[in-house]
Amino acid sequence: MRDLVEAIRPLLKAVMSDLDVGEEDWSGLLAGSTVSDFADVAMPCHSLARVLRQSPAAIAEDVLAGLGSSTAGICTVSSVNGFLNFTADNEWLSMRMEEASADERLRVAVEDSRIIVIDYSSPNVAKHMHVGHLRSTVIGDALNRMLTYKGHTVVPENHVGDWGTPFGMLIEHLIDIGIETPPDEIDLGSFYSDARSKFDSDAAFANRSRKRVVRMQASEPETIAHWQMLVNRSLLHFNDVYQMMGVLLTDDDLAGESKYEAALPDVVDMLAAAGLLEESEGAKVVYPEGWINREGEPLPLIIQKADGGYNYATSDLACIIDRIQNVGSRDFLYVVGAEQAQHFAMVFEVARSAGFMDESVNAIHVPFGLVLGTDGKKLASRTGGAVQLKDLLVEAVERADSLIAEKNPELPADERAEVAHMLGIGSVKYADISTDRANNYTFDWEKMLSFEGNTAPYLQYAHARICSIFSKAELERDSFRNSSISLDDEREATLARAIIAFPQALDLACATHSPHKLATQLHAIAQAFASFYESCPVIASEGLTRESRLALCDLTARTLETGLSLLGISVPQRM
Ligand code: ARG
Repeated sequence: MRDLVEAIRPLLKAVMSDLDVGEEDWSGLLAGSTVSDFADVAMPCHSLARVLRQSPAAIAEDVLAGLGSSTAGICTVSSVNGFLNFTADNEWLSMRMEEASADERLRVAVEDSRIIVIDYSSPNVAKHMHVGHLRSTVIGDALNRMLTYKGHTVVPENHVGDWGTPFGMLIEHLIDIGIETPPDEIDLGSFYSDARSKFDSDAAFANRSRKRVVRMQASEPETIAHWQMLVNRSLLHFNDVYQMMGVLLTDDDLAGESKYEAALPDVVDMLAAAGLLEESEGAKVVYPEGWINREGEPLPLIIQKADGGYNYATSDLACIIDRIQNVGSRDFLYVVGAEQAQHFAMVFEVARSAGFMDESVNAIHVPFGLVLGTDGKKLASRTGGAVQLKDLLVEAVERADSLIAEKNPELPADERAEVAHMLGIGSVKYADISTDRANNYTFDWEKMLSFEGNTAPYLQYAHARICSIFSKAELERDSFRNSSISLDDEREATLARAIIAFPQALDLACATHSPHKLATQLHAIAQAFASFYESCPVIASEGLTRESRLALCDLTARTLETGLSLLGISVPQRM
């Protein structure tokens, strides 16, 4: 428990200096202490044995004696097997809870503001968004919200795939189906694959397509107009999905590959000037240090192909230069699947050795695993193809709707629709975000929509239940924000510990770019609330106890609501 560690630190400092233990020998022990079943802070004294030439147990006893009564009002301390166990006093916990209750920000501190670019979502033009983009969009959106809440200026960048050689065939295919086709009649489900199969089977079409690429690269107005039509059609689709998901991205955040197109020749020149560019079978490449292929030969990063076309990596290099020079950022997060780890590692390496970015720039790939079906394979549609994100979201809301209809038939239709949306979308997002992003996860409707377990409905329900305590008793939630909070029951203290750890969980989630660390804490809060509510009467209690418990309920609901909103999940007042 970070707050307790901070409260103990000055007391420990005094004792350690009496014992002649240097700061460097003890302060790491406190920082590395853990929460155990027996203590809020369990600090091992074992590494001090070599400094003090005494057994860890004897050292722990000495420190304990040295602390004496200085911890009164903060915590109780005991020494067990060379560990010092610190357990917060209820009064101390109460004070932290009262601070949180009175604070709009729930004790979440603001950090020194940095400009952080988050590259996320990044679907491809002329294709439907699929579940791979679900992960990037959900995780990126949560990081955006969490880091913004911590006081940073987040610049979201949607690095859409909107440029490159495939656009030759895509534009020709658009011409074939008729450029006057209304956008919503263009089926993105098959557009790309239709163009691709024509390209593979029809030599004349392939020829036209290649010529079209050249015209596109020369910015021929007619070709650019056709290209723009495809982009616009795709944006309709992307925005439809974003709106349904309730993510923060807008058209202002678009920074696709086409944005960097004009800068690509400069990238080539700069790499050449840095002495990094080499020729390989007509292509211009860079061999980043330390990269070899399976045969043990140096692995190239292709910058410009033999036909003059540029590569995905070239755009990313131009993009890095833009972010430093024009966006003014030195912190870049790339929320992209783990399968692109090598791409980013090589791009970063080249950008560093070419001097595009120095040590002050933190470029971090934030990778994630796959979405699997219940069969353990990569999630696929019934026909075996990639699952379209939109279909998934629609199904989620439908399933949530029937669930609510069953659980709460009295809910008016319009309210039910609203709740079903929050529940359905919330479930899909939460299932994604509550597992360690490094792992694959299984897309399982039953599990994600369950009211039990670490799920969105469980957390949303805990919140709604608290709201209904207040509405049934006709009490204003905000009238308890200066009430004193006493933690007489063990379950109240457990709930308090879970709530006090919220700011720390958020910081950890931000520092490791792992939203699931926040989700885990929210789940712990909801669980602690459930057991508190089971055994501690709220409305039926009296006097100060009643007031304290109502304040506890309100603070629990606000923490859940804030925490979920930082993960991009809305909470209904009732459900
Ligand atoms: N459009 C790419 C894809 O769908 C992701 C782009 C990620 N961002 C980047 N800067 N490369 O795989």
